[in-house]
Amino acid sequence: MTTEAAIHVQGIQKSFKDLHVLQGVDFEVQAGTIFALLGSNGAGKTTLVRILSTLLKADGGTATVYGYDVAAKPGDVRESISLTGQFAAVDEVLTGRENLVLVARLRHLKNPGAIADELLARFSLTDAGDRKAATYSGGMRRRLDIAMSLIGNPPIIFLDEPTTGLDPQARIEVWQTVKKLAGQGTTVLLTTQYLDEAEQLADRIAILHKGTIIQNGTLAELKQLLPPAEVEYVEKQPSLEDVFLALVGETGETGETGDSGETATTDADTVSHGKELR
Ligand SMILES: Nc1ncnc2c1ncn2[C@@H]1O[C@H](COP(=O)(O)OP(=O)(O)OP(=O)(O)O)[C@@H](O)[C@H]1O
Ligand SMILES: [Mg+2]
Repeated sequence: MTTEAAIHVQGIQKSFKDLHVLQGVDFEVQAGTIFALLGSNGAGKTTLVRILSTLLKADGGTATVYGYDVAAKPGDVRESISLTGQFAAVDEVLTGRENLVLVARLRHLKNPGAIADELLARFSLTDAGDRKAATYSGGMRRRLDIAMSLIGNPPIIFLDEPTTGLDPQARIEVWQTVKKLAGQGTTVLLTTQYLDEAEQLADRIAILHKGTIIQNGTLAELKQLLPPAEVEYVEKQPSLEDVFLALVGETGETGETGDSGETATTDADTVSHGKELR
C-alpha cells in the first residue's frame, strides 16, 4: 500500500437481535480525502459511524482509525477523531462563542477564547458569535456544530448526515465547510441519503445496502455503474431544489468551475437524468 489509509474497515458485522444490520462491511478511506457513505433510512450508516467512533462494539470484523484498532485502542481512536452526530449538539442558551469556549475548556486547551474566535472566523460566524445559538439558522447551527467538533484539530472527522433537514442554501454552506476541511488535510467520512451531496463532496462514494457495501468508487466510476435502484435516492430529493439553486444562486466557492449547467437543470429527476446525459 503506497498511501496510508486513515480508516480501514474489514468484515464489520453488527446485529441487533435478529436484525442483521451490518453483514461484512469493507472499505478504506485514504488520508485527506472525503468519503461518502450513502444509504437509505435504516441502512446502517449511523451504526457504522458509531462503531468507528467507538460508541458501539462490532460483533465481528476489524476496523482501524488513524492506525488504531477501534476495539483494542478506543482511547487513541477518540483522540484522533471528532463526531458530529445526526442531531446538532449545540447548546441553544449559550452564544456561538460560548459554545466554542465551553468545548475548548472541556478539552483543557489553552486560550479557549482565541480558539473560539479563530473558529468563528473560519466558519463565517464572527458577526453572530455573541448571539444565542437559539437565534441561528439551521445552516449556522450546523456550522457551529462542526466548528465545535473541530476543537483540538482532530485529523479525522465523522459527519453523520450533516445536511439532513437543511435548506439548499444551508446545505451548500456546509458543503463548503467540509470541502475546506479536506483541503486542509482533514480526512472526512460522511454519511448521507443524498446522491447529490455525495456527488458534490466526495472523492469516493460507497453505497451501503442490505448490510454490505454494494458499490465503492469515484463519482466517475459510479456514474457508469449506477443501477436503476439508485434512482430511489434521487426521488427523496426536494424536486425543486435545482430550480431553487439556479434562481437563488449559489454562494461563493462551491467548485462551480468546470461544472456549469449541471445545477441548472430543472427536472425532478435531475441527478439521474444528468447521469444518463453524460
Ligand atoms: N440500539 C439499537 N437497537 C436496536 N436496533 C437498532 C439500534 N440501533 C439501530 N438499530 C436498527 O438498525 C438499523 C440501522 O440503523 P441506523 O441508525 O444505523 O441506520 P441509518 O442508515 O443511520 O438510517 P438513517 O438514514 O435513518 O439515519 C435500523 O433498522 C435501526 O432501527
Ligand atoms: Mg443515521
